[in-house]
Amino acid sequence: MVSLSLFEKLHVHKKACILDVGGGDSTLVDDLLRAGFEDITVLDILELAVERARRRLGTQADRVKWIVSDIRKFKPDRTYDVWHDRATFHFLLSEMKFVSMRKLLVRP
Ligand SMILES: C[S@@+](CC[C@H](N)C(=O)[O-])C[C@H]1O[C@@H](n2cnc3c(N)ncnc32)[C@H](O)[C@@H]1O
Repeated sequence: MVSLSLFEKLHVHKKACILDVGGGDSTLVDDLLRAGFEDITVLDILELAVERARRRLGTQADRVKWIVSDIRKFKPDRTYDVWHDRATFHFLLSEMKFVSMRKLLVRP
């Protein structure tokens, strides 16, 4: 998996605090656990996606922190060494572009 290989290429420490944004629908967390990373947080806006991932991981899920939140409203109570995102923020960018275009195009 490309994401996991990036962690390896960047020599991310196994104790690094990792936040996987929009990771509820991804198996990156499985790969990170298998690779020995110890401090993983998965955040997703969809409770269903988080629940599915937790169920898939079984008891291994207890080694992960799970957050259901919209990343735009997320106020971290700690710092993270690595923020990982694949295919989440670009949706937000498209949405922001859409909103700003709409502001331009739709005048009251
Ligand atoms: C296309 S999936 C990508 C999943 C995963 N990162 C991967 O690479 O397979 C996008 C994920 O981002 C989540 N998502 C979308 N908007 C979000 C937001 N505003 N805050 C947090 N998560 C969001 C979705 O629920 C979904 O699980």
